[in-house]
Amino acid sequence: MLQLNPNLTDLVADAAAGLRQRLHATATVTAAAPGRVNLIGEHIDYCDGFVMPFAIDRYIVIAGCANGTAEARIATALDEELAVFKVTEPQQIGTPKWSNYLRGVIQGFQDRGHHLAGFDAFIVSSVPGGAGLSSSAALECATATFLEGLLDTVLDTREKALLCQKAEHEFAHVPCGIMDQFASAFGKPNRLILIDCQTGEPNLVPFDNLDLTVLISNTMVHHELSDGGYAARRKHTEDGLAILGKASWRDVTAADVSAAWTQLGDPINRRARHVVGEIARTVAAAAALERNDFEALGPLMAASHDSLRDDFEVSCAELDIMVEIARKIGRAGGVIGARMTGGGFGGSTVTLCDASKAADVAATLAAEYAKATGLTPQIFASRPSQGAHLVAQAK
Ligand code: GLA
Repeated sequence: MLQLNPNLTDLVADAAAGLRQRLHATATVTAAAPGRVNLIGEHIDYCDGFVMPFAIDRYIVIAGCANGTAEARIATALDEELAVFKVTEPQQIGTPKWSNYLRGVIQGFQDRGHHLAGFDAFIVSSVPGGAGLSSSAALECATATFLEGLLDTVLDTREKALLCQKAEHEFAHVPCGIMDQFASAFGKPNRLILIDCQTGEPNLVPFDNLDLTVLISNTMVHHELSDGGYAARRKHTEDGLAILGKASWRDVTAADVSAAWTQLGDPINRRARHVVGEIARTVAAAAALERNDFEALGPLMAASHDSLRDDFEVSCAELDIMVEIARKIGRAGGVIGARMTGGGFGGSTVTLCDASKAADVAATLAAEYAKATGLTPQIFASRPSQGAHLVAQAK
């Protein structure tokens, strides 16, 4: 039931083999960047809130080399179609769709005055796509790291993450916050990344207790953040802040939201209640972690899920079912807490549980979820892992 995470070394070998077979080229640069899971702090990275993700040990790997032309020729294991486009001129949105993440990142390098030359590249991934685990941020960060390798340059990590976020905004039309790209870029083994999204400060918090396991359950309900639901939520929060007459959500209290409830109107009042509540829950979770009080995370995760379901309305039936099964297993069965993770509208849940019972918890989640929905979920454990990095660079 519990899937094993594909080994990064195997992925790197697959990328090199794909490059040889599809493009008849030999890798001189190989970059890897992970997806992420968020423990708590959802839909508040674009509200100056706090978020607490970590980089998972599932990666996108890009292997490639200069090809002596002005064009990028990029292939992937997931698509027959090759992406071919000029890298020596300003980038445009084009096809195949996945190539836009690369085009956006290339544009970011051009904006910083880098002169790119043509390259061949092959992409492989162990980050489930459309599962709320930031496969797009992983692709952006892997691309940026690959280009650093090709250009023999190193960007400041924060600048790299922001460049990738801009690519997502402008080439995928998702007005995302900074969480995903920060997690993929700054990830470290055994560390959560507590990001203060007001200051843009990522704090690495130890998370190395081997008695705990983080299970990720992909509901297999596809999520598409570019279809408008995400942007609509973000707009609600911006409108809410304007009505409240505040400069930042960090200056808004629960009492402010209650006092302005009618003026805010539905659904903005409920969106506002989520933002203020989720910021407080994430601050409380960070404090609990500092004193190694993992049990305190359970109720906070539960309240986070309920708020995302009822007030922010970004959950869906399948996410609720998965969380409900975890709640029924309960503390006696090894579950500390469970909630949806990521943008929502489908995707994955995160379940914090006792390591000794993780396999049983995963088996029950899989069986009960299949019974309730007819879908076979993908369930795996993940520990905080290394963020975007170059795997090999031949000169
Ligand atoms: C997506 C976005 C993030 C964040 C989450 C919700 O993953 O890319 O910036 O807003 O949704 O927490």
